[in-house]
Amino acid sequence: MFDLKIFAGNSFFYPIKDSTYLCFKTLEHEDKERFIAGFKKLSAKTVYQRFFGFMKELTDEQVEDFLNTDQKDHVAWSAFDIIDDELVGVGVGRFRRSAENPNEAELALTVIDEYQGKGVGSVLLAIMYYLASKNDIAIFTGTILADNTKLIRRFKALGAEMTRVGWEYEMRLPVFTDFNSLPKNQYSSVIKQTLEFLTENNFCS
Ligand SMILES: CC(C)(COP(=O)(O)OP(=O)(O)OC[C@H]1O[C@@H](n2cnc3c(N)ncnc32)[C@H](O)[C@@H]1OP(=O)(O)O)[C@@H](O)C(=O)NCCC(=O)NCCS
Repeated sequence: MFDLKIFAGNSFFYPIKDSTYLCFKTLEHEDKERFIAGFKKLSAKTVYQRFFGFMKELTDEQVEDFLNTDQKDHVAWSAFDIIDDELVGVGVGRFRRSAENPNEAELALTVIDEYQGKGVGSVLLAIMYYLASKNDIAIFTGTILADNTKLIRRFKALGAEMTRVGWEYEMRLPVFTDFNSLPKNQYSSVIKQTLEFLTENNFCS
């Protein structure tokens, strides 16, 4: 059985669309094996959409870099399902503060294929959004492939500016400190629900 105590202060349980409770927690070095196992479950399409290339596995340097978080300038949270008393990594949300523009951060989200469409990405985005607003990040940047149309539509609905550059879109998504300023639509209402939960529970403060 995993030890709940190790998560004190940096984790919480939260339901996704089908009412299953997942564990959301900071991604740390202790998660190395789970992180590597999660990457291996991604389809070629998901890897391509996230990394803009095909790769079967991450190099040791990439794994080290992805786990080398400080939860301030490089923030990463992972979603875990609990299967047979083991934590199984199903998604990661991360942002990295820009060295040139410290109030901007590059956002990245990945959910393993088997769990896509269940609301995991939306919870991870809400966590990123909440922590960015607490860490003086005003804009999330990102590059999204032009054929990732659903995601482009979702970010636009949250107020993102999207500039087409060849086969990609450059995204600039405002991070509102007042969550009530989010545009009102079906996408923001899902995110807002999680933001309200985090705010009510004084998450990470
Ligand atoms: C992009 C990505 C992270 C999204 O994660 P996801 O878990 O599949 O997303 P969600 O399940 O939260 O959202 C899917 C849909 O469910 C809706 N939804 C989410 N939670 C919901 C809830 N509780 N109730 C009702 N609807 C909900 C979302 O609004 C969204 O609607 P849409 O299908 O009309 O767009 C995932 O698809 C992925 O890893 N893609 C490949 C990598 C990638 O493209 N990364 C982004 C570039 S960095």
